[in-house]
Amino acid sequence: MKNALITVATINELRQKVSSARARKESIGLVPTMGALHEGHASLIRQAAEECRFVVVSIFVNPMQFRPGEDFERYPRMLEQDCELAARNGAALIFAPNVAEMYPAINPSLSPPTLTLPHQGGGKESAPVTTYVEVPGLSDSFEGKARPGHFRGVATVVLKLFNQAQPDRAYFGQKDAQQLAVVRKMVRDLNVPVEVVACPTVREADGLAMSSRNIYLSPEQRQHANALYRALMQAKERVQAGERDAVLLRATMAEILDETPGCQREYAELVNPSTFAVVERIEGEALAVVAARFGSTRLIDNTMLTSETSIV
Ligand code: PAF
Repeated sequence: MKNALITVATINELRQKVSSARARKESIGLVPTMGALHEGHASLIRQAAEECRFVVVSIFVNPMQFRPGEDFERYPRMLEQDCELAARNGAALIFAPNVAEMYPAINPSLSPPTLTLPHQGGGKESAPVTTYVEVPGLSDSFEGKARPGHFRGVATVVLKLFNQAQPDRAYFGQKDAQQLAVVRKMVRDLNVPVEVVACPTVREADGLAMSSRNIYLSPEQRQHANALYRALMQAKERVQAGERDAVLLRATMAEILDETPGCQREYAELVNPSTFAVVERIEGEALAVVAARFGSTRLIDNTMLTSETSIV
């Protein structure tokens, strides 16, 4: 029988609990999250609990991956509800640090709380410089281009969480495919001793990928938001019917997004799933990636296309 959920807010307490679990010879799983947990997170926690004896869920809205003007302030925070969902799905411990615990060098009076980076200069009033992790190349296209600095924030906080919790395995959703590629590359390049496990995207009944940001959608936007899924499925169908030309597949996806009311397409592309380099033809595997705005809400989604692809 599993023990009651433990909740800690400091790195020291986390380390103590993890080393006790290790002393009991338990394997450690980590599910990094920003909270506002939904069925997508629940599936990550369940998979972690199936494969690891002691599952840590981190809940931290990481200011370093938000830019000024993004939704750092209004990002939903619901710790009590999150703890219940995590416990129900097999978590042993919630790690919910505050910003000062994670980034002692941060300036909390700025929004989002900001760390000065060396190439940004920084006057007297700026926050002190901190060490950070950059995964060049992969971090500069698509999501990285739309949100400069985003993947630096993600890679930095994920490496910190890996060092803090020292998990055997860490679980990430396939929905954030570029984030997953960035984390995998960082782990490989820096020889981090953790196995990165990718878990399938969980969808609403109409195909919309679950996301904590879906709650920002108005009822009308919500009604049309599955356009991303429809675009991906249309590309998949065309590949299944024999189409291999990325230009045509891209146009098919773009058309669906463009004809959807309230949908502003940002990109619809076919890329190599590891490097995110754009591909010209489907040979073997390619990842179809889409991003669109509905009002101020930005949604992303993706699906794998293979020369032998089938509809799921
Ligand atoms: O995917 C997320 O929720 C975040 O980017 C992560 C991985 C928890 C890092 O803050």
